[in-house]
Amino acid sequence: MEDVTNQPFRRIAKRIADPGLMFTEFVSAMAVHYAAEKTAKKMRIHPEERPLGIQIFGGDPEIMAETARHAEEMGADILDINMGCWVPKVCRTGSGAALLKDPDIATNIVASVVKAANIPVTVKVRAGWDYSLFAAPDLAKRFEDCGIQAITLHARYAKQGFDGMADWELIGRLKQSVSIPVIGNGDIKEPDDARTMMRETGCDAVMVGRAAISNPWKLRDIRMALTGAGVGSPPTLKERVDTALEHIRLMIELEEREDLGTGGPTPELRACRALRGQIPLYIKGVQGAPGIRAKLSVCSSYDEYAEVLGTVLAENY
Ligand SMILES: Cc1cc2nc3c(=O)[nH]c(=O)nc-3n(C[C@H](O)[C@H](O)[C@H](O)COP(=O)(O)O)c2cc1C
Repeated sequence: MEDVTNQPFRRIAKRIADPGLMFTEFVSAMAVHYAAEKTAKKMRIHPEERPLGIQIFGGDPEIMAETARHAEEMGADILDINMGCWVPKVCRTGSGAALLKDPDIATNIVASVVKAANIPVTVKVRAGWDYSLFAAPDLAKRFEDCGIQAITLHARYAKQGFDGMADWELIGRLKQSVSIPVIGNGDIKEPDDARTMMRETGCDAVMVGRAAISNPWKLRDIRMALTGAGVGSPPTLKERVDTALEHIRLMIELEEREDLGTGGPTPELRACRALRGQIPLYIKGVQGAPGIRAKLSVCSSYDEYAEVLGTVLAENY
């Protein structure tokens, strides 16, 4: 997830939740082609977080193949092709969910990536471009013939964005039409949702997005529910604050390692800015949180974050 599943988040999620598989933020094939520095960082893998998929997006079969090879060299265990992103900036370039409208180009891209890669390839789709066509089954069959190993369905149409509810029935229908594993996605908020999705659709695995943002414990609870491992205890406020601080610390370390010394903002400032959306969510629901969240969304150093989060702890004990 863009701006969410950065490497520090994935390491924390691995430690706390141990999900079966995680994915990087999506990586633009075009940016890799032009050697964009920010993109290389997105593909940096830490040994602790495996197995890990690198997700790539693009509209050109050759450039996607080149990116697949690059992602494999970076150490990806799996390559995932994004055909679910509906935002105009992405779709305008013929990438992401725009490919749902063009099965031939979509299939060429998948074939080209499968041919280039020595690791398993998966694809993430939405149901279709708009309500007029449930395109996923036909696409999935074509992709299966190309040799992909699994397909993920975010059970909304691209035109919906995030409106309405995901239609899980579509996941069941997709499952009926292919032999490869189907990963169901959309609106899993609680462990019971994951159980229900698996039972009602017959899908082979579930993918959790928004419920996991700054909340690896929710991911842990969902994994435990699905594997019959009991129920975890809810995190204390101190655990949430300590984890937020760990996230910042790991992000600063990552930025320091990646620093090319070419000037501009310091690694610490870059890290703090990058996490301004995520850190406030660690204290969601805490008394006085809205005011504190506003303060957290402008922090520029580890010490500033630590001071504000320290106040949260002091005021809530
Ligand atoms: C902030 C944000 C970033 C996202 N970035 C990606 C992405 O890079 N690649 C992707 O396949 N899906 C991305 N998604 C979509 C999610 O992976 C997921 O399909 C969607 O949120 C529905 O699942 P959920 O209800 O569990 O959140 C993103 C969603 C959000 C909210």
